[in-house]
Amino acid sequence: MVHQECINCKTQYGIDEIVYFCRKCGDILEIKFGMTELGEKLKASDWKKTPISVWRYRDFMPIHEATRLVTLSEGGTGLHRSQRLCDELGLKQLYVKNEGENPTGSFKDRGMTVGVTKAVELGARHVICASTGNTSASLAAYAARAGIKCTVLIPSGKIAYGKLSQSMIHGAKVLQVRGNFDQALEFVLKLAEKHKDIYLLNSINPFRIEGQKSLGFEICEQLGNEAPDRIVIPVGNAGNISAVWKGLTEFYKLGIIKKLPKMTGIQAAGSAPIAQAIKTNSEKITPVEHPETIATAIRIGAPVSWKKAVNAIRESHGTAETVTDEEILDAQKILARVEGIFVEPASASSIAGLKKLVKSGVIGRDERVVCITTGHGLKDPDTAIKQSEKPVEVDAEMSAIENALGLKKQAILAR
Ligand code: F0G
Repeated sequence: MVHQECINCKTQYGIDEIVYFCRKCGDILEIKFGMTELGEKLKASDWKKTPISVWRYRDFMPIHEATRLVTLSEGGTGLHRSQRLCDELGLKQLYVKNEGENPTGSFKDRGMTVGVTKAVELGARHVICASTGNTSASLAAYAARAGIKCTVLIPSGKIAYGKLSQSMIHGAKVLQVRGNFDQALEFVLKLAEKHKDIYLLNSINPFRIEGQKSLGFEICEQLGNEAPDRIVIPVGNAGNISAVWKGLTEFYKLGIIKKLPKMTGIQAAGSAPIAQAIKTNSEKITPVEHPETIATAIRIGAPVSWKKAVNAIRESHGTAETVTDEEILDAQKILARVEGIFVEPASASSIAGLKKLVKSGVIGRDERVVCITTGHGLKDPDTAIKQSEKPVEVDAEMSAIENALGLKKQAILAR
């Protein structure tokens, strides 16, 4: 039977119960399936006939059969073999799983299609989240799709403009909290606890994680039912790395894949409590009080799903690394210029981390690596413009254009 379960004391809750933290010990929850039962269900299902997308995996989702889905066609993003980037980094086999190709431009849509479907199933009329920008953009879109009210709390002045514009145009109530993401999250947690009619859709909500686990499923299916040797992924609040790992372990337990990859989490140097805990082999994380990084999406000091993430990294024999803003911007540019893939800075941190770990020898040159890029570059055009060559303004004359291009004047040949 599918149920919610505390990751610490294993207390169980039904899938139609609204509960965000374990009522016994206060830890976070996850969705658990009976794997034998799920295996049987899959045998009788024609899931493999459905095109690659989040809802190809409907059998793996804790949503009742009769429920109408709130969807914008999420998932099914490209797994791009990246030979030129391989050459640049000195690797043999590298793929970029580009989550910027989702409907609102980030991986969050995988979680929101399931999370908002669940919200509607539970009868919620008002959803809420705290966000560094992408979660709010996605929630606003899916709430609009479902016709329910949406409130988002974002840190003031620190989120990229593209993302802000998305929440606004989809009609969400946007509160800019004078504080950072971690503070905004504390408020929404308290709000959802206090006002039972408001449904919380941060990644603490295990139904969102279920949607995001499809990212792990897709990677394996796109590689012909095989996991890569390693998955490199940006880490902020730590929901996504936990979700991908959950998907992979489910495929493994079902015998769909025969081995598991090493999960490798990358954090921005100014906001890296999980990477620090891994490096120092510590049992707990030490929250960063004033997180800083140009990668505003992962500017998070107290990641709520840290336990799940640390577990994913340790259990998979993976690792974690930190990258500086300079390394992030450099990686963003390289990816855009050698592969034609434009990602936002937080996404580029996975590429920056990969580069660093190949150089230091932690990642072997023979490894088959999948790097996840999490959000589209147009989310944050300001950063891209700042680090690129400025447009050259020219008069509307052929000679001026030729001059600007350094072309020699040529006589126009008579035909
Ligand atoms: N990359 C991007 C582009 C993100 O927006 C986020 C998180 C992450 C990576 C990290 O994922 O939190 O699951 O570890 N953004 C959240 C938000 C926090 O509010 O949009 P994570």
